[in-house]
Amino acid sequence: MASLATKAIRTSVFQRSAGLTGQSYSRMVTTCATSYTLNTGAKIPALGFGTFQDPDSQEETVSQALQKGMRLIDTARVYNVEEQVGKGIKKSGIPREEIFLGTKLWCNDYHPDDVERALDDSLRDLDTPYVDLLLMHYPCTFKRGPDRFPRDADGRMIPGDTTFVDTWRAMEKLTGTGKVKAIGVSNFCQSEIEALINETSTVPAVHQMEVHPYLQQKGFNEWLQSKGIHVVQFSPLGNMNDFYRQTGWSKEIAHMMRVIDQPVLKDIGKKYGKSPVQVVLAWGINSSRSVIPKSVVDWQIDENLAADFELESEDMAQIATLDAKARFNDPSLDYEWRLYSDLEGIDGTVRGRTH
Ligand SMILES: NC(=O)c1ccc[n+]([C@@H]2O[C@H](COP(=O)([O-])OP(=O)(O)OC[C@H]3O[C@@H](n4cnc5c(N)ncnc54)[C@H](OP(=O)(O)O)[C@@H]3O)[C@@H](O)[C@H]2O)c1
Repeated sequence: MASLATKAIRTSVFQRSAGLTGQSYSRMVTTCATSYTLNTGAKIPALGFGTFQDPDSQEETVSQALQKGMRLIDTARVYNVEEQVGKGIKKSGIPREEIFLGTKLWCNDYHPDDVERALDDSLRDLDTPYVDLLLMHYPCTFKRGPDRFPRDADGRMIPGDTTFVDTWRAMEKLTGTGKVKAIGVSNFCQSEIEALINETSTVPAVHQMEVHPYLQQKGFNEWLQSKGIHVVQFSPLGNMNDFYRQTGWSKEIAHMMRVIDQPVLKDIGKKYGKSPVQVVLAWGINSSRSVIPKSVVDWQIDENLAADFELESEDMAQIATLDAKARFNDPSLDYEWRLYSDLEGIDGTVRGRTH
């Protein structure tokens, strides 16, 4: 099972013979359409499309991205964009069965009696009979009810009275309904995933987590791979998302040099006629992971789509030196849950304060 998740299928789509404006090429680069096989046997593309933020643009950009060739769409109940994503899919004209569509359950719907209804809400808004992947968004459980962020009088998040293992068992049942092809998790730490493996009968198909050159999590990635759990990198461009500069979760470290401005990435890019953004995404794909950059800008979507190419091992080794163990997405204090407890990059919140 373990080897399934790492098996990449690289299909040569076209040869790029022209470079980005002002850049000289030293070689021809083949653009691939890599996909991986999940532990369910289903295929997941290496390159995908994120939909967090900019709800007003999502219908059009999802449609555009699909027409341009993206086949993996990542969304979530809490992004409030499922309706727009559903309309975008319809507008694109791409048959539903050609698209790998994933959404995420939010923490106020983790009670086992709420899970199927919550999925039905997502399916209704996405206007689809099934999702290819349903993820538990975080391991923390909030008080059940319509309030997504239930807080007490002091503004503290109110926890739910069930655990993520209870939620997982309810998700397992959904795989028998045909409404969900695979189930997985997001923002879990190793011991939390171990609890699922030890206490239930389904190994997550996917772990969606923060990975980029500043937060490489080498050991954890190797462990996930050994368990046959495929990794989807969120925020693959690191601190590009302005949200991280605005939220208290990561404010200070988010102001470090943008990942994509690192000179070593520019140098590597010149070798292949690719931009630093493309090198960063290719690093994820060459590490057997999927990447889901978000963009609402036409030329950026094109650029991201041309990011599936082979990097030489010496360049992978150079990128490895950028690891700063800098985690930008850490709402532990707000969610009243010590997230990522056995993982790297939590120094800013272990002392009970944000970075
Ligand atoms: N599971 C989770 O808890 C979780 C957490 C965060 C994100 N996610 C998922 O992961 C997706 C991606 O993460 P993210 O949005 O945080 O970060 P990201 O994709 O790493 O970065 C997005 C930012 O980079 C910009 N960008 C994209 N392509 C670019 C390019 N080619 N050149 C220059 N700038 C470019 C975007 O600009 P524009 O916006 O102007 O286009 C946006 O500001 C999300 O949309 C969501 O689906 C999941």
